Amino acid sequence: MDVAIRFQSITKEFAGIPALRDVTFDVRAGEVHALCGENGAGKSTLIRLLGGAWPAGSYAGDLHVHGERAAFRSVRDAERAGIAVIHQELALVPGMSVAENLLLGREPGRRGIVDRRQMREVAAAQLDVLGGGIDPSGDVGALGVGRQQLVAIAKALVRNARILVLDEPTSALTDTGANALLDILRTLRSRGVTIIYISHRLDEVLDIADRVTVLRDGERVGTWDAEPLSAADIVREMVGRDVAPAARRVVAPASDDRPALSVRAWSVLSPDGAARVRDVSFEAHRGEVLGVAGLMGSGRSELLLSLFGAWPGTVYGDMWIDGVPAAIRRPVEAVARGMALVAEDRRRQGLILGMSVGHNLTLAALRGLSRGGFVRRGRDADEARGLVDRLAVRTPGLATPVRELSGGNQQKVAVGKWLLTRPSVLLLDEPTRGVDVGAKAEIHDLVRGLADEGAAVIMVSSEAPEIMALSDRVLVMREGAVSATFDDVDGLTEADIVAAAISQSPTAGAA
Ligand SMILES: Nc1ncnc2c1ncn2[C@@H]1O[C@H](COP(=O)(O)OP(=O)(O)OP(=O)(O)O)[C@@H](O)[C@H]1O
Ligand SMILES: [Mg+2]
Repeated sequence: MDVAIRFQSITKEFAGIPALRDVTFDVRAGEVHALCGENGAGKSTLIRLLGGAWPAGSYAGDLHVHGERAAFRSVRDAERAGIAVIHQELALVPGMSVAENLLLGREPGRRGIVDRRQMREVAAAQLDVLGGGIDPSGDVGALGVGRQQLVAIAKALVRNARILVLDEPTSALTDTGANALLDILRTLRSRGVTIIYISHRLDEVLDIADRVTVLRDGERVGTWDAEPLSAADIVREMVGRDVAPAARRVVAPASDDRPALSVRAWSVLSPDGAARVRDVSFEAHRGEVLGVAGLMGSGRSELLLSLFGAWPGTVYGDMWIDGVPAAIRRPVEAVARGMALVAEDRRRQGLILGMSVGHNLTLAALRGLSRGGFVRRGRDADEARGLVDRLAVRTPGLATPVRELSGGNQQKVAVGKWLLTRPSVLLLDEPTRGVDVGAKAEIHDLVRGLADEGAAVIMVSSEAPEIMALSDRVLVMREGAVSATFDDVDGLTEADIVAAAISQSPTAGAA
């Protein structure tokens, strides 16, 4: 069997702390090789050095590509060797067209003059292969995450990548989007492309992978054929113990008091005037989790952002907090009224990457507390430390810049900082995206805990099992409107939710 990549005794340290320890394994040519491990296990670090982002010399050990020792000094070197890495955070340039992104650095043309027509043609041909009906001349920033993902893959294929590495490609996709991506990967595999696949969605891993390697604390635990493995097997190797599956939420006592949040005839327009949310009305009570399901682009994020005063376009409708009318135009006003939002895009809205873990955690709480006129610095630091422990945020300390944490650990900080504010209305948008199984259970516990303490929680999630596990009531959105409300989740199935998210009703407006 041909070996495409050999990782040989790879060790990589950050400031003396090992992120990878003596990692050795082979990736066979033409296989899909999954890489699993808890947040901070070292997955992204390993593929960053394979992709040339950590240059040779910054780690110990050897990398062999198709039998030859490789010492990449840059991403370009790796690309020349046929390796393309699609990172956890996509490196596309918004404001530039799809075609420009695809051919960045390899624009066709002569003497520095770009041949735009040829560029569009090359891009269109490559995009056709992947499907998805993406317009090469459109702005990449205007595409949804799923299509941006396709553009990133097309970009790799334009560069003749024979080895494709995807770091959590589906964490931002709905199930449908993820399945479409997996189909594309199967096609690529049938053409001989070698694929390394990192994902916390273990059902997906078992679906697509030929073999699985598990990392724990920077060390390789083992490599197995995917065939006889179960998700529970992989989890056990990841964490070194058995993890109980998320328990079904015990339904909270019915609260017949005033709703904590009440929203009537809520409509949201994008800055260019397109309707994103249409005439949505709902109530959320203290002590309950209201799950919001729906497809990507169904208006769920826009709903949360607009309630929080963080939406750039026009918003219509009425809102009451604890029965008192609320006109919230900016996030500070929302925070002052006891609201909190964990946004979908943590890098843009959730975190200050250059700031320390401790500061990021306490920032929101400080802002919230200052309305009481005094600040409890010492106590906040204690709470921050407690949260870091509870969520098992893998960080050298509270003073470490968030930028240096692994993707999943950044997410834990983004969620955790709002949990410290003890909000009365908590808006969560995909709170466990990219978070490993153990931390996911901890975040679920914290969310439940906040609800039990009296918060009204409104949670958007694309993972039906998460909606089912946490929600007391479920609201499904389709094309900006509420397509179904389930006040009783007993007996509710994933199929019911999916049906409400996709079904065409005769009255549905144009997309
Ligand atoms: N630039 C950096 N500076 C310092 N430490 C880093 C840096 N990048 C990663 N680390 C550390 O290396 C370890 C491994 O991180 P890595 O990003 O590889 O984890 P991961 O397995 O990809 O996790 P996740 O599932 O959360 O994405 C973590 O402890 C992380 O804090
Ligand atoms: Mg990672």
